[in-house]
Amino acid sequence: MLDIKNGVSLLPYNTLKMNVKANEFVEISSVEDLRHLSSQKGFPERKKLILSAGSNVLFSGDFDGLIMHNEIFGISVVSEESDQVILKVNGGESWTDLVEYTIGQGWGGLENLTLIPGKVGAAPIQNIGAYGVEVKDLIVSVEAFDFTTGKQVVFSADQCQFGYRSSIFKTTAAGRYFITAVVFRLSKFPLLNLTYGPLKQAFEGKISVTIRDVSAEVARIRRSKLPDPDEIPNVGSFFKNPVVDASLADKIREGFPQVPVYPQVGGQLKLAAGWLIEQCGWKGYRIGEVGVHEKQALVLVNYGQATGAEILDLATKIQDSVFDRFGVILEPEVNIY
Ligand code: EPU
Repeated sequence: MLDIKNGVSLLPYNTLKMNVKANEFVEISSVEDLRHLSSQKGFPERKKLILSAGSNVLFSGDFDGLIMHNEIFGISVVSEESDQVILKVNGGESWTDLVEYTIGQGWGGLENLTLIPGKVGAAPIQNIGAYGVEVKDLIVSVEAFDFTTGKQVVFSADQCQFGYRSSIFKTTAAGRYFITAVVFRLSKFPLLNLTYGPLKQAFEGKISVTIRDVSAEVARIRRSKLPDPDEIPNVGSFFKNPVVDASLADKIREGFPQVPVYPQVGGQLKLAAGWLIEQCGWKGYRIGEVGVHEKQALVLVNYGQATGAEILDLATKIQDSVFDRFGVILEPEVNIY
């Protein structure tokens, strides 16, 4: 039964801990719920938002529409062979619990994505990634409910049009689909990905490294740099790492030979937004209830009672100073409503 509630506080539903309300709020626990909801009169015109764990959203004020909270649970093995497992995971499952579960089973693939906050249904939307791995590398398909047709659809990984922190669900099809499940291919003989510098260093010269070892090291690195949202509210990286033309990167390199650059397919270069922000003097900065994390300048934090406006104000100041100093435009990674 659908139970649409009014005037619901979103405080427990966003990791930046914005104290705002939703006009309407409904928990979605099955595809059936989506069918019922979307067949209601006036549904297509309604302002609405699908919310998972709220770990990548900034509510700049009350949400004047309907929040659909993904509560579709369940994990099942679709097929198992001698070397791999195809696993279907419903969208409401916790990402960190999933990673822990697969490691416990000895199935490799997700270990570098340990401790990323959020739910499984949101993972493909921005193609979550960390420490050398992006979730697209493990995804076979994505199952979604199409609000336009009222039908379930299956997207192959190719059809998802994955890119750096991007997919069709964040671009051309934004808001059209509710991701109900994600199907992963995991390996029983995992090839470890130790391309991320600090991870490589940690295991240099070590033999018989396991997925559990990698997961534990990723957790250690994360905890050393990134604030736990339960202790200091945040949404992880607030901006994307900018991808710029070689000419601009070269210009920056002339003045700052130590700038971290990551070559991309096609000749462009990705810069480290955290480094750019730190160079502009923001790291550890605090004004009132908002600030820039002292160990990772890409993370904006709420020290308690920050409002969306205060966070946006700080974000704009950071963007302006990075542009003035380096000529680089920083785009938010967080979704702002
Ligand atoms: N750096 C600084 N100062 C800082 C932060 C970073 O100089 O304050 C430098 C680092 O020394 C390093 C480079 O910038 O040379 C990159 O830093 P780091 O490896 O910490 O990663 P990142 O590029 O800042 C990205 C992701 C993170 C992910 C890490 C690890 C984006 C927007 N962010 O951050 O993802 O955990 O790599 O793979 O791509 C997230 O998306 O929310 C997130 C936390």
